[in-house]
Amino acid sequence: MRKRGLLLFVWNLLGMVVAEPQVPCFFIFGDSLSDSGNNNNLVTSARANYPPYGIDFPGGPTGRFCNGRTAVDFIAQFLGFDHFIPPYSSVRGREILSGVNYASGGAGIRDETGQNLGGRISLSRQVVNYRAVVEQLKRYLGNETSVTNYLSKCIYSIGIGGNDYINNYFLPAFYPTSRLYSPQQYATLLIQQYSEQLKIMYNYGAKKVALIGLLDVGCIPREVAHSNGTCNSSINSVVGLFNAKLPSLVDSFNKNLYGAKFIFVNISAISNDIERNLQAYGFMVTNTGCCSVNRSTGEEKCLPFGIPCQNRSQHIFWDDVHPTEALHLIYARGMYNSSSSSTYTYPVDIQGLAQQ
Ligand SMILES: *[C@@H]1O[C@H](CO)[C@@H](O)[C@H](O)[C@H]1NC(C)=O
Ligand SMILES: *[C@@H]1O[C@H](CO)[C@@H](O)[C@H](O)[C@H]1NC(C)=O
Ligand SMILES: *[C@@H]1O[C@H](CO)[C@@H](O)[C@H](O)[C@H]1NC(C)=O
Ligand SMILES: *[C@@H]1O[C@H](CO)[C@@H](O)[C@H](O)[C@H]1NC(C)=O
Ligand SMILES: *[C@@H]1O[C@H](CO)[C@@H](O)[C@H](O)[C@H]1NC(C)=O
Ligand SMILES: *[C@@H]1O[C@H](CO)[C@@H](O)[C@H](O)[C@H]1NC(C)=O
Ligand SMILES: *[C@@H]1O[C@H](CO)[C@@H](O)[C@H](O)[C@H]1NC(C)=O
Repeated sequence: MRKRGLLLFVWNLLGMVVAEPQVPCFFIFGDSLSDSGNNNNLVTSARANYPPYGIDFPGGPTGRFCNGRTAVDFIAQFLGFDHFIPPYSSVRGREILSGVNYASGGAGIRDETGQNLGGRISLSRQVVNYRAVVEQLKRYLGNETSVTNYLSKCIYSIGIGGNDYINNYFLPAFYPTSRLYSPQQYATLLIQQYSEQLKIMYNYGAKKVALIGLLDVGCIPREVAHSNGTCNSSINSVVGLFNAKLPSLVDSFNKNLYGAKFIFVNISAISNDIERNLQAYGFMVTNTGCCSVNRSTGEEKCLPFGIPCQNRSQHIFWDDVHPTEALHLIYARGMYNSSSSSTYTYPVDIQGLAQQ
């Protein structure tokens, strides 16, 4: 209780106006880019509930794989919520009415993805958890019709698939997928499984859904370190095959499913603009993270209790894989309001989705 009060207090200090949010709830699915603590009690190296994680977050480490807030935290603020969307692992009672965060570090579309790291909550498991919450909503909203009505106004965001590459396809010592499937076949397979999960979500009330494309994972510091200081363009082109299929997935949902309002967020388009205007955004360091990692162990996360760089807002990356709060904020702005570039979202931005 005391912690929740403190968070609200700090939120107000940050200048947020407390008013009715634009939508009644916000549900979040995905991987470490959106996880807000769901892995804290799992046995896994995909865990970030220790310093220096959270050094810039009100209240310190939470399990977010970041120094501060992530893109979905900013989106919750832009939508007008007066609190962060609680993680499924600790959500209680009526808190579910404003939405739940199911995202899990290391998770993928494929169930086996991320096993090399340890425990994680795969997308199919996240969807099972979501269905359990929809059942509970009946208790608060009365009947199925009122739950359906309520959920049809809510925003859903899903960013997943990156681990199906970096913690599956590109780890041939652990996973056979790169021997079984060509890059094109693998992208098709992932999209098929993704589409199945999205259909279940749709059947359980998700109508306004933002599908967030994958980062250029060939440009994360860990890969750059192995590629003579430049992005690994072959990784980017393989991952690009998955992204390229998302706009038509969005089209087919919007065309074939009654009331569906899906959108695609082109994260690479936002990244390309940042890359071209680094100085305007205040970034000075692009190829190494802000905190210290131990590459000799293959560990990509910050060393516990290590002292991170002084000025986090000059860095694109926080650790060897995950963006800083500064980069998350730019992603969130582009997703929410794409009026500066029509390439950021398709067919509308999250703000447009909220208003529909
Ligand atoms: C469901 O609940 C709403 C709001 O309480 C009510 O207006 C409606 O008649 C109920 N519908 C059914 C089928 O029970
Ligand atoms: C890029 O990544 C692929 C897949 O992991 C790897 O085989 C290749 O050697 C990398 N390229 C460079 C230049 O490091
Ligand atoms: C990386 O740089 C080294 C030394 O400059 C060079 O020998 C090697 O071919 C380069 N590797 C790649 C994948 O570009
Ligand atoms: C994303 O945007 C980039 C840059 O504007 C563009 O080249 C790419 O085709 C877009 N990707 C998709 C899947 O629309
Ligand atoms: C940190 O970096 C930002 C962006 O480059 C800059 O605007 C700011 O003045 C820096 N802060 C400090 C304390 O150096
Ligand atoms: C990094 O890992 C290696 C191998 O486990 C270990 O010997 C070394 O002390 C570690 N370095 C730091 C800074 O923790
Ligand atoms: C959206 O962003 C543009 C600048 O890119 C700004 O001019 C506009 O006011 C923003 N719109 C809203 C509704 O926030």
